[in-house]
Amino acid sequence: MCGVVGYVGSKQAADWLLDGLSTLEYRGYDSAGVQVVSQSGNLHGVKCAGRVATLRERASVANLNGTCGIGHTRWATHGAPTDRNAHPHLDCTGRIAVVHNGIIENFQDLRRELMAAGHHLRSDTDSEVVPHLIEDALAGPAAGDLARAVRNACERLEGAWALAVVCADFPNMLVCTRKGSPLVVASTEDGAYAASDVMPLANVTSTVMQLNDYDVATLSADGSVSIVDRDGVVIDHPSTITIDWDASAATLGGHPDFMAKEISEQPEAIERLLSGRLGEHGVELDELSLTRDELAAVDRVVIIACGTSYHVGLVAKCAIERWARVPVSVEYASEFNYNQEYLVTDHTMCVVITQSGETADTLAAARRMRGMGCNVFAITNVIGSTAAREADGALYIQAGPEVAVASTKAYTAQMVASYLLAMRLGFANGHMTREEVGRRFAQLETIPDLMREVLSRRWQDKQASRLFRDKHSSLFLGRNVSSTTAYEGALKLKEISYQHAEAYPAGEMKHGPIALLEPGFPVVAVVPADHVHDKTVSNIQECIARGAVVIAVATDGDERVAKLCQEVLWIPQCADELIVPVVAVLHLQLLARYVARDRGFDVDKPRNLAKSVTVE
Ligand code: AGP
Repeated sequence: MCGVVGYVGSKQAADWLLDGLSTLEYRGYDSAGVQVVSQSGNLHGVKCAGRVATLRERASVANLNGTCGIGHTRWATHGAPTDRNAHPHLDCTGRIAVVHNGIIENFQDLRRELMAAGHHLRSDTDSEVVPHLIEDALAGPAAGDLARAVRNACERLEGAWALAVVCADFPNMLVCTRKGSPLVVASTEDGAYAASDVMPLANVTSTVMQLNDYDVATLSADGSVSIVDRDGVVIDHPSTITIDWDASAATLGGHPDFMAKEISEQPEAIERLLSGRLGEHGVELDELSLTRDELAAVDRVVIIACGTSYHVGLVAKCAIERWARVPVSVEYASEFNYNQEYLVTDHTMCVVITQSGETADTLAAARRMRGMGCNVFAITNVIGSTAAREADGALYIQAGPEVAVASTKAYTAQMVASYLLAMRLGFANGHMTREEVGRRFAQLETIPDLMREVLSRRWQDKQASRLFRDKHSSLFLGRNVSSTTAYEGALKLKEISYQHAEAYPAGEMKHGPIALLEPGFPVVAVVPADHVHDKTVSNIQECIARGAVVIAVATDGDERVAKLCQEVLWIPQCADELIVPVVAVLHLQLLARYVARDRGFDVDKPRNLAKSVTVE
């Protein structure tokens, strides 16, 4: 969702701002803009609906000289994605410019009040009230003090915001603040930077500062950053994050797109995650803030997540229930937050799964669970993300930056992370012996090579992708833990190929979705060698009897499936049924990508989607 960048220093601001916005494109957006303060004390800006590439073209013919500025990629919430609604937004005098990520929930009241007082608002956005509130503060109680004016303005806001503000009267200053929405700042020798996440900053620094809710940071041209809290008290030692990956990790490195790159990075991501995890306590999970006794007492686990991370939760449920014998519920965060009657026990543990660590629904759910007295454990990819900071404990999956909107390597790494948690719980409560933990861990260690094998068979996915040509819909089926692979496969296909795909537990097909079947209708059946194999084969036969074209994901050597199905995406033998979802899904990621490419779509930036969904 919206991306914010800001710079003040010795270099031309527009160059870095545009590059920063390109780096933030992965978050998802529909319009973009930049505003620069010239040394003569004027604001110059360009903004437009569409891509950052279009903004670059406009910027190249505009006078954007200046060493201080802000930029924005907008994901429309209030008001259509038009030039007029694109950020930055200005006050009445045209001397204050603001970019915003989040939602100002009381904007209608503020807008009415501002207009009644004579302010002229030009857009349909909620964000535009902010520069006008700052204008009033600068003209009154915070005269001559931009940081204070921003603080005063924020006192009027309800909702969530990450703001970057420049003013023509302060050509060497950038003011930033946040509440709820992400924002980090950095101090370097050639200036000070602000951004929604660390991605644009990776090539200028390895250390960024985090802002707490309501903190206000003043960034100066000499590169210094000073931060005050809500009460104006100076924060001498803000918490910092070290960017532990090279900036090249967020570049294509020879791959045609980020999705292809991230799919191929999965074996190494799992190796990193498992490295050094086997030890005295079975699985070493120091990130948990619970003692062994507290872990042993956990009598219920509630997993909360959205989208692909929710699918991880479904697999995690199987592992935790099977290995630790603790009942698990898996909830969509957006639903959980409005379930008024949610019941927890005294020993309920909450696990939130979120690649970005910034998904608004998931954060709200985690806060609610903490409010109900539960210990909250976050499984996330982004170091220093809000989910990690607010949880009682956080396990970083170390998958490296995931740039493509469609999650791939984070999905499989999160699954394996949840297996580590299941083993730690099972060992603590006595349901798993040290030997069993060792045996299971050795099975997890086979995953990277199994993945490599699937990746070497990508031609099978390319071949199968032609069966989706000119189709409008498809059905994905699987039983037990493989139904989760079907859900994830269908989600991937929908996200990037814009082709409808419905996923169902295979046995449920006859209760409704079977009506969709007609000659040529594509069905993807996940049918590995497991205890429900024969049942799923029966469902495949039901599909074929109605003329459907079945593409199976099956285990090497399965002659029966090979004879029945049009195409088979083969996976190697896996040591346990719970290894299969981590391996088999690679075929469905590849399949979705080939279908999308075949249809001519940008697989990294699917329409309407955002990488980090920071609004509820
Ligand atoms: C995944 O391909 C999707 N883009 C989406 O479903 C995503 O998983 C969901 O928005 C949750 O994101 P999170 O893991 O960052 O919380």
